[in-house]
Amino acid sequence: MNTKKTIVVVGATGAQGGGLVRAILNDPDHEFNVRAITRDVSSDKAKELVKLGAEVVAGDVDDAESLKKAFKGAYGAFCVTFFWNHFSPEKELANARAMAEASRHAGIKHVIWSTLDDTRKWIPLSDNRMPTLMGKYKVPHFDAKGEANNIFTNLGLPVTLFNTSFYWDNFIYFGLGPKKGADGKLAITMPMGDKKLPGIAAADIGKCALGIFKAGQKYIGKTVGIAGEHLTGEQMASGFSRVLGKEVVYNSIEPAVYRSFGFPGAEDMGNMFQFKRDFEKEYCESRDLGLSRTLNPALLTFNEWLNKNKDLIKTD
Ligand SMILES: NC(=O)c1ccc[n+]([C@@H]2O[C@H](COP(=O)([O-])OP(=O)(O)OC[C@H]3O[C@@H](n4cnc5c(N)ncnc54)[C@H](OP(=O)(O)O)[C@@H]3O)[C@@H](O)[C@H]2O)c1
Repeated sequence: MNTKKTIVVVGATGAQGGGLVRAILNDPDHEFNVRAITRDVSSDKAKELVKLGAEVVAGDVDDAESLKKAFKGAYGAFCVTFFWNHFSPEKELANARAMAEASRHAGIKHVIWSTLDDTRKWIPLSDNRMPTLMGKYKVPHFDAKGEANNIFTNLGLPVTLFNTSFYWDNFIYFGLGPKKGADGKLAITMPMGDKKLPGIAAADIGKCALGIFKAGQKYIGKTVGIAGEHLTGEQMASGFSRVLGKEVVYNSIEPAVYRSFGFPGAEDMGNMFQFKRDFEKEYCESRDLGLSRTLNPALLTFNEWLNKNKDLIKTD
């Protein structure tokens, strides 16, 4: 009989959840079973997870009853929301509540809530150094996640608040990679000045989450922040130059210029970078590299991530 504990994973066909599903399946200790949640059990990505050995079940964070069913009987739950699919902080809050309530209903023994900082604790809405967005947020996709921390803790859940970092994969999949400027030079553009940005290989987030589950009680009731490295724009540009074999420069601009770029979410991202720039010390300190490596000894450095992904980085 299979008596292993089950971890139920939201976002299992995506970056964070997918990393955790694979980490659990590849764990040499085979400590947990994994139950992957998807909205479409017949998709290619869902079928791939079945092939890898996951149990795959239907669930939708917009459908509280589906979560209750999917969470039933599990020991652990990994909970994440999908801001960039809908751009709605209110939806994130509702989705977080549905996952928290499903966790309570199922008697989950360890919840990991993938969250980010509520930047309004540092920059209240009255602080005009950056604009208030959507009426009551500074960095909507951060603030709602941070606000949702209370939903998990107020329900008395055995939760680890899991502060993630900027995925380096954004340089491939989120349009942030090196681009040719008017001068013909390749550049990465971020409003970070000379400050360090905590970043991580997206797949390492799930590996760190597995480390938290494997530590048993240790991180329950705690906040754990993770990153692979804290790097300046210059340091990242020089990594790109090395791996691509052509010069990539760092183009540091003002946050207001970034906010004006006009792509969906540009204002949110401009405020996000400004927050990370202006609170570099606190933000980096909250994402401890030593702890991240303890949780996940295979944690990639930026250069290791670049070497692995160089063929996917487009420069034209
Ligand atoms: N990009 C970054 O640098 C970064 C850094 C830190 C935090 N984050 C946060 O990460 C979150 C997104 O996580 P991710 O990058 O792992 O997402 P992702 O790669 O976009 O994957 C999302 C997966 O979740 C599933 N999904 C979407 N809507 C769903 C719903 N209503 N119910 C259930 N499942 C749903 C989809 O699977 P199916 O289609 O199979 O259902 C999809 O494969 C965002 O909130 C973002 O703010 C991003």
